[in-house]
Amino acid sequence: MGVAAAADWWQNAVIYQVYLRSFRDFDGDGVGDLRGVRSQLDYLVDLGVDALWITPFYTSPMADGGYDVADYRDVDPSYGTLADFQELLADAHRRGLRVIVDVVPNHASSQHPWFVEALAESPGGEARGRFHFREGKGEHGELPPNNWPSIFGGPAWTRVIEQDGQPGQWYLHLFTPQQPDLNWENPQVRAEFEDILRFWLDLGVDGFRIDVANGMAKAPGYPDRVEGCLPEDRSLYLDRDDVHDIHRAWRRVLDTYGDDRIAVAEAWVPTHRLALYLRPDELHQAFNFPYIKAGWSERAIRQVIEDSLGGLGASSSWVLSNHDEVRPVTRFGGGASGLRRARAAALLMLALPGSAYIYQGDELGLPEVVDLPDDALQDPKWERSGHTDRGRDGCRVPLPWSGTTAPYGFGPAGSAATWLPQPDEWASLGAQLQAEDQESSLILYRRALQLRRTLNRHGDGFEWLDDKDTPPGQLSFRRGGGFVCTVNFGPHDITMERPGELLLASAPLRLGDNLFVLPADTAAWWQADNEGRGTEQ
Ligand code: GLC
Repeated sequence: MGVAAAADWWQNAVIYQVYLRSFRDFDGDGVGDLRGVRSQLDYLVDLGVDALWITPFYTSPMADGGYDVADYRDVDPSYGTLADFQELLADAHRRGLRVIVDVVPNHASSQHPWFVEALAESPGGEARGRFHFREGKGEHGELPPNNWPSIFGGPAWTRVIEQDGQPGQWYLHLFTPQQPDLNWENPQVRAEFEDILRFWLDLGVDGFRIDVANGMAKAPGYPDRVEGCLPEDRSLYLDRDDVHDIHRAWRRVLDTYGDDRIAVAEAWVPTHRLALYLRPDELHQAFNFPYIKAGWSERAIRQVIEDSLGGLGASSSWVLSNHDEVRPVTRFGGGASGLRRARAAALLMLALPGSAYIYQGDELGLPEVVDLPDDALQDPKWERSGHTDRGRDGCRVPLPWSGTTAPYGFGPAGSAATWLPQPDEWASLGAQLQAEDQESSLILYRRALQLRRTLNRHGDGFEWLDDKDTPPGQLSFRRGGGFVCTVNFGPHDITMERPGELLLASAPLRLGDNLFVLPADTAAWWQADNEGRGTEQ
């Protein structure tokens, strides 16, 4: 086997997000690592994904789970070595799995040598020019240069102590103070990142997930935000038109490696702005975050699907969750009904044209862990918000693989406590247990991914199956080759005309010859039969 070069492999790919700290711990220190991922590649092959995206594993003081990079060309010792990464990459490729890595260009770590150098230098020096250093306002420069807030709470500026021991300039950090924003007006920054891309491309990675791909460009002159503007108005420092020059330059780098290396944008922007990142000379993919935000609502989901299929100008990359969002089971109501909806939502997403990202543990139906003790919380949001926002740790709890006691096979027997505590509930959700249970979420995902490979041979065709009899609360659509997906968003069971042969359902259905009952919060996949049943509009 091995990955064959295929220019458009990503258009329909299912890409599995490995949140490295929490995937599998090979060395027993309580933190996931690269050898842990390597040891579970067969699990990913059995699941049926095409590629994995691994969250940052670079040298980092871990002020933000590794999204604070001190060395972009090396591996943090807690995750392994560069050789471990190369072995993982080779093993993945041997199994036909592609590997995408994260790149974090909006900000570096405050321990990055460039920032250390900048602090050691006087105001106005060359090293400071790689970041956003400014004089403060007020008589003694004691006020921040402007009123921009940090996305994690508090001001977006921190004042430094200069070499003479006195407070001096301020630097910009849209996230934590340990994540100084890089100045993308500086040609050294641009050149350095293109070189970093080449470093990983030369090692053989298949692409990049670009962290905060809508960051980087800041309003010239750093003007204040208008007092009273909406909190979500970040137009002075996010999603500015200038950012697209950077993506075009990166695309040129990627293209020199052939046409199968890709980049996917993390950009929390509305669909019509997302389309800009997907222009032919820019990025291949952009996460469809409006889809995450649509919740479990037939109308909202339908709207996002329509906007995306019509308005992106490229194929959509659907996402149900990631390491920053509340797990779907919990987002959709929690408990048995949350799980039911999350299973239905997975079948819906996997039936849509385009690619799909699966966040680790969603295939196990894991809920958000909502009761982590205060002193276990690690997300910087918790501290930065003055303990008002509990942050994102609840979706980052180490995975359960096997066994009935912690660490549930996450690490070897006798390993150190996991970096976040696992709940007792993990005992019944382990991958090994689910692999033997035909009703489990893991088996549902495996079947779906296997079937999806056949569907994708029928291209991108998509049409809603609506008519005057379409009951409210449901969505039905047909893809090429007579494939039909029906979803009931609840709250009532719906009796519908049977579209054909049942392929897969997220919960048991009652089937008659011509009719069937689609229970609340259930999705089903169908193959319309040869007589055309279900294919009439
Ligand atoms: C992205 C990452 C998130 C991180 C932030 C800052 O949104 O997904 O985890 O905290 O960027 O790098």
